[in-house]
Amino acid sequence: MRVTPWEVKEELTDSLYKKLVKEFGIKPIDQEVIERIKKHTKEIHFMLRRKIFFAHRDLLWLLDEHEKGNRFFLYTGRAPDGPIHIGHLVPWIFTKWLQEKFNVELWFQFPDEEKFLFKQVSFDETKKWTRENMLDVIALGFKENKTHFLVDTKHANLMYKEACKVAKHITFSTVKAVFGFTNEANIGMIFYTAMQAVPAFLPSILKNKNMPCLIPLGVDQDPHFRIARDVLPKLGFYKPALIHAKFMPGLKGTKTKMSSSDVNSTIWLTDSDEEVRRKIIKHAFSGGRGSLEEHKKLGGIPAIDVSYQWLYYLFEPDDKKIREIYESYKSGALSTIELKEYLIKKIITFLHQHRKKRKKAEKKLNKFIF
Ligand code: TRP
Repeated sequence: MRVTPWEVKEELTDSLYKKLVKEFGIKPIDQEVIERIKKHTKEIHFMLRRKIFFAHRDLLWLLDEHEKGNRFFLYTGRAPDGPIHIGHLVPWIFTKWLQEKFNVELWFQFPDEEKFLFKQVSFDETKKWTRENMLDVIALGFKENKTHFLVDTKHANLMYKEACKVAKHITFSTVKAVFGFTNEANIGMIFYTAMQAVPAFLPSILKNKNMPCLIPLGVDQDPHFRIARDVLPKLGFYKPALIHAKFMPGLKGTKTKMSSSDVNSTIWLTDSDEEVRRKIIKHAFSGGRGSLEEHKKLGGIPAIDVSYQWLYYLFEPDDKKIREIYESYKSGALSTIELKEYLIKKIITFLHQHRKKRKKAEKKLNKFIF
């Protein structure tokens, strides 16, 4: 299985997610979980209904604790090494919804050493991208007085000692097995997972009270927290609960994950209207037929159509509308170009609003940094 935090070499299919549930030992999000969440949130986010968040660890336990008055906090993160693309937004938009509905704190980690250690990125670059990425995160609307940014190098005085406590319980052979490292891995890579574990219990240390933690994440990040869940009880903390998202597909086809390393596979939050249009018209893989005539006769295939999938994952939250689009595309009534124009309009509208909020975020930046 080639799904680790550093590479996803598997085709994105239903059977991949089934395999991940089995091999990672995570639990599928079922109706019971959804009902339990709904008890608190009254409504259910479309990403849950559509099983874009498809699996979890210990979520029912977390809700038990919460109902007993032992309130949880949220934790997620982003390793800064470049601009944000729309695929990054999937877990964050859901995290924002959770924060709003449960009215809880969010700790957001910017591990600015991660990409320095794992890729060819300098600390000058990560410094720039930390700031840039923070503005995008703030623009999504997280609560100002309940959201705390941790930057690994900036908050090293607070985090390093705690990371050492974690690291002492992790052997070299464990990280080799979990992440697939060879003897050629640098020793920073080997230590790194200890830093990513810290925000799952740092708030408990700061408040001097053991608090449950819920981590929304892309499923590729699960290996980190498998380790953290083994170690944290040994330090006197709860195992963090997790809720796992699927990968948003890239422009070139529904079977490959959107990736920052392929500039034409994604839309950046900084793309102009013309760029958005060009990329989608030119590069978005279509489940439509060769000619319009054929399309009207045979209908399109939404399952392999990137434009449809992007609407499903992010840009068309309305269930009734997505259903209608599905039906009319499948029947052939809706053409590929009409579907693409619908998506382009949605994305451009989103990006315009986002950029306005991002501009305002500059003034608030310091309030978010812990
Ligand atoms: N490793 C993540 C990345 O590559 C960043 C990250 C840090 C993270 N802590 C996290 C992601 C907690 C999800 C949850 O971007």
